Amino acid sequence: MTTQTALRTRPLMPEFGAEILDVDVASADAATLARIVDVFNASGLILLRKQRLDKAQLVAFTSAFGDPAENTREEYTDPEYPKVYVISNKVVNNRAIGQHDDHHGWHSDLATAQRPALCTLLQALEVPDEGSDTLVADMCGALRALPAERQQEFMNYRVHQSFVEMRRVRGLNVTQEEMDAFPDVFHPMVRRHPVDGRKALFLGSMAVGIKGLPNPQGRELLKELQDFATQERFTYRHKWQVGDVLIWDNRMTLHTGTSYDMKKYTRHMHRTWVRGEVPLAA
Ligand code: SIN
Repeated sequence: MTTQTALRTRPLMPEFGAEILDVDVASADAATLARIVDVFNASGLILLRKQRLDKAQLVAFTSAFGDPAENTREEYTDPEYPKVYVISNKVVNNRAIGQHDDHHGWHSDLATAQRPALCTLLQALEVPDEGSDTLVADMCGALRALPAERQQEFMNYRVHQSFVEMRRVRGLNVTQEEMDAFPDVFHPMVRRHPVDGRKALFLGSMAVGIKGLPNPQGRELLKELQDFATQERFTYRHKWQVGDVLIWDNRMTLHTGTSYDMKKYTRHMHRTWVRGEVPLAA
C-alpha cells in the first residue's frame, strides 16, 4: 500500500494560486507529479522555486499536464527542443535568440485558436534585478465578484477573438501562414472549467468584439470587463528569481508581462504550452 502524502503549499493569493514547497521537479516520481497537477487544478496558478530543469526535463515536466503544444513563432523556439520557446533579450552572433517584446497586455495564451492553450509553464534562467514581473489575474474570482444578473447576461455572449486584427491594430505584419493558421474564433465569454465546472471570464487583448453586439458597444463592454477583472484584488504579481517555474491555467486566468530596462539587464526564460480543448460554454 502506498501512502499519499499531501504536498506542502502556501497560498499566493487568498483565493487563488499556490506555491508548492519542498519539491525537486527533476527528481520527482510519478505520484509527486500527479499531486503537483492536482494542486494546479485546484489553484489555477502554481509556483515552484529553485528548480534546475534542462530543456528535456522542462518538456517532460510539461507532459505531466498534457500534450506539449507547438509554438507560434518558430524562429524563437529552441532548434533541438521545438516545444521550448525562448523569451529573451539576449543577442548571440548578431541574432536575437528570443522574443522579448510581445507579452505585454492582458491575455490568455492562444485565445485566438480553436483550442487555446490549457496552461503555460514559464521558467526563469536569468532575471533583472528590477522590473519584468509577470501578473496573473483570477478570472473565476472576477466573475464571482460581478452582480448575479450581469454574470447571467454574460453567459449568453461569445467573444470575437482575432489574431489578425490584433496584430494589425498594433501595426505588426501578418503573414498568409498566420492568417491561415489563426482564423477568427468566437469563444464563450464565460467558460466552464472541464475539471470541476467552475466558471471563469474568458477575455484578453485579442478580443475585438462580441457576437451580436455592434461595435463600439461590444468593444467598450470588453474593455470595461477587462479593467474590472484585472484589478489588483484579483491579481498575483510575480517577482522572478532564477530557478522559478510559474504555471498558470489559461482557462481561468489572464496574464501580462511587464517592462524592464533591457539595456541594463538580461532576462532569459523558457516557456512551454500544453495543448487545450475547445472552450466549454458555462
Ligand atoms: C507570456 O505572456 O507568455 C510571458 C509573460 C512574461 O514574459 O512575463
